[in-house]
Parts: sequence; C-alpha cells; structure tokens
Amino acid sequence: HGTSKINGQGHLEIGGVDATKLVAEYGTPLYVFDETLVRERCREFVDAFRASGLKFQVAYASKAFCVMAMCRIVEEEGMSLDVVSDGELYTALQAGFPAERIHFHGNNKTIDEIEMAIDAKIGCFVVDNFIELQMLNAIAGEKRQKVKILLRITPGVEAHTHEYISTGQTDSKFGFDLGNGSAFRAVEEASKLSHLELLGIHSHIGSQIFEVEGFRMAAEKMASFAVQVRQEIGVTFKVINLGGGFGIRYVNEDTPLPVSVYVKAITDAIKDNFGRNEYPLPEIWVEPGRSIVGDAGTTLYTVGTSKDIPGVRKYVSVDGGMTDNPRPALYEAVYEAMLANRASEEPTEVVSIAGKCCESGDMLIWDLNLPKVNSGDVLAVSCTGAYNYAMASNYNRIRRPGVVFVSEGQSDLVVKRETFDNIVGNDLIPARMKQVS
Ligand code: LLP
Repeated sequence: HGTSKINGQGHLEIGGVDATKLVAEYGTPLYVFDETLVRERCREFVDAFRASGLKFQVAYASKAFCVMAMCRIVEEEGMSLDVVSDGELYTALQAGFPAERIHFHGNNKTIDEIEMAIDAKIGCFVVDNFIELQMLNAIAGEKRQKVKILLRITPGVEAHTHEYISTGQTDSKFGFDLGNGSAFRAVEEASKLSHLELLGIHSHIGSQIFEVEGFRMAAEKMASFAVQVRQEIGVTFKVINLGGGFGIRYVNEDTPLPVSVYVKAITDAIKDNFGRNEYPLPEIWVEPGRSIVGDAGTTLYTVGTSKDIPGVRKYVSVDGGMTDNPRPALYEAVYEAMLANRASEEPTEVVSIAGKCCESGDMLIWDLNLPKVNSGDVLAVSCTGAYNYAMASNYNRIRRPGVVFVSEGQSDLVVKRETFDNIVGNDLIPARMKQVS
C-alpha cells in the first residue's frame, strides 16, 4: 500500500527507497515513514470536509506520533494539532507550529502546563472537569487573558473496539457526563466564567473504530444536547468536535472504510440534526491520529536467533520488540510482516516473531507465514506508524530506534537513534558512593 512495492531485486521499496539500503545506512531497528502516504491521509480528511461545505478543523492527534518533522507536515497541510502534555506542546512550538492552531487536551493538566499554553497563546483548551474549569479561569484571569475552550463531554456512546482504548462510556475518567447532568452544569458554569470563551463541546468515542454508526450516534447526542442548552440557557455552540478514532487496516481481516465515508457520515449527521432544529450550523472539528500516520509506518528489524520446538512452534527473534512496539503485549494487537530483502519469495514456514526483551510477553507477531528465515534477514512489520515510536520505552535499557521519512527516492533522518549517552545521561551517582573516574 502507499508507495510501497517490490523492486527488481525482490526487495521491499518504500517511497522509492530500497529497504535494504535504509538498513545499511541507518541500522535497525528503524521506523520508516512513507511521507507521501501521510500527506495523502491528511488531504483525504481535508478534502472530504471541504466537500461538505461546513466550516471545519482537522486537528492531528499528535499523541499517535509526535516529532518535530511530523508537526511540520501537519502545518504544511494546513491542519491543526491536538496535544495532551507539555512535552507535545513543546515539540510543536519548537517545530514552529502556529500556536493558534494548537488544541490542548487532557484530564489532568498541571498549573505549569496551563501557564505554558496560555503564554504560548494556543488556540483552544479542551476542558475535562470542574476543577480544571475553575483553575483555567483563575490562571487566565491572573494573566489578564480570555482563553477559548471546548468542554469534553462523555456522550455514553460505546464504540466497538478493544476495551482498554474505549473512552466514550459513562464509566470513564474523561469528561463531563451527559447522562447525569454534569455536562449541563459545566456549560452553565463555563458560560459564567469571565476569562473563558466557551466555543462548544467535544467528544471522543474510542479508537480503531470501523463502523460509522458510533460517530453518527455521537453527532446526534451532541446535537440534541446543544439544542437543549440553547433552549434552556440561551448558549449557542459554534464548534462541535467529534474526536478521533477512525480505524485503519493492520491485517487483511480489518475492514476500515475510506476516510471520506466517515467524514460524510459525520457532516451529514451534523447537517441533519442541527438543520432539523434550526440551529446555526456549527464548525466541525475532528482529531484523527492513527488514521493519519498508522499505515504509513513500517518498522525494519534484523533477524537474529531462532528456536525451533518440533511440533510446537518456531520462534524467530529480532533486534527490537516491546520496547519499540508495545501494542501486541499491551492490547494483543496484530501485525503483518514480510522479509524486506526477499520480498518476492513464497512463504514456506510459519514462525512467531519474538523481541529481544527479557520477558516471555515480548512477542511481536504469532504465526506468521514467511519464506525460510535466516539470521541476517530484514523483517519489515507494516502499519507501525501510530502509537509505536510514541509509546516506545527504554525497558532493559534498550536504545530507542531512529525514525526516517522517505519520499520520492529520498530518505531523511527525522529522529536520531538513541545513544548510550542518552541511556545514562540522566543518571547520577550520589557523592557518598565511590565515584567512577
Ligand atoms: N482525540 C482524543 C481526545 C483521544 O483521546 C484520542 C486517542 C484521539 C483523538 C486520537 O484517536 P485515534 O484517531 O488515534 O484513534 N495507545 C492506543 C490508542 C490510544 C488512543 C487514545 N486517544 C493504541 O495504541 O491503540
């Protein structure tokens, strides 16, 4: 998919660059991003919203993959950016991302984070709870500023997804509950606070969602809430943000719809529901993360040892694992992979791909069909662009891999591989212990 293909030498090629060349130049493990595909995904969202005729913002949820070069792409594609911590905010600002297009999320923003974001003059805060509402108003007041906000609503829509990553139900740490009246009270309170400008409401119903139904239901609930609020207290929302969660294809059995179908379902639902109530059509914001970067990422590994247990299973180990991709261990996520240096060979054996961490749970892929694997082969795991680098760790003191963008035959390193100095750089030996010379 994307610009990936098998070249004349039988090697996987991404963005016009031979994967074995990338390995020779940058080493493994290595995250490779098909920049053309990332930009295509961005444009699919933007074009689909343009076609709707509604006002909109597509805010890339940077939690999926947040590095400075990625912020640049998002900026160039004319989108907004959603951040959830001072670290993501800092990354965006360092990359020169326009502050007014940044939205700040999170259920426990600290005073320091709020101050940093107000000082940077970001576009909008998505307020999660009553304590934050008061705190934000107070801090904005001290700084003699008026800050724009959305209120995060828990709409009680349960998306069909893995239970650890669904956030739309009532029993959730996020947001003001629609069902028990706290969302209504939040609107009343927010509209009275003089240093806040209430733009509207936000919901996020989960992640890796395939059906349009959840988005349609959320849009409906948001609309009827908006209508109720307008009738009862005369507050009109200018913005409805429906979050992210658009699914992607990790393996063949996954059945995501084209981006344009999700967007059309959402914009149609908004037009129907608000239109029917003679409500001025709000701006629609969304926050895709995974669907922007997920399928554009490939991780390249070098195959090392293997262990054949006759009649049971063959383990093949690679030079990375749960440190660069914790999703299989964390969510039982499934991935597909191929041998990048022998991409046109037919599969002849079934193997399971293990990482190099010191624990049995460190498995990347179970039961993968591959040609007879040799040590030194290059394994390419696809669809690793979202929540892989972002969730990577230094477990076992393993250095995090580098990240490369490829496009039209060119490769650029956008994150350097970590060094041993990065590993021990923050360590201190107390003075009372014997010092190393
Ligand atoms: N907006 C909000 C408020 C969110 O909480 C999220 C994701 C998004 C947008 C972006 O959702 P996306 O379009 O990427 O599905 N680590 C998990 C995913 C956690 C998603 C958390 N929130 C994983 O690896 O699957």
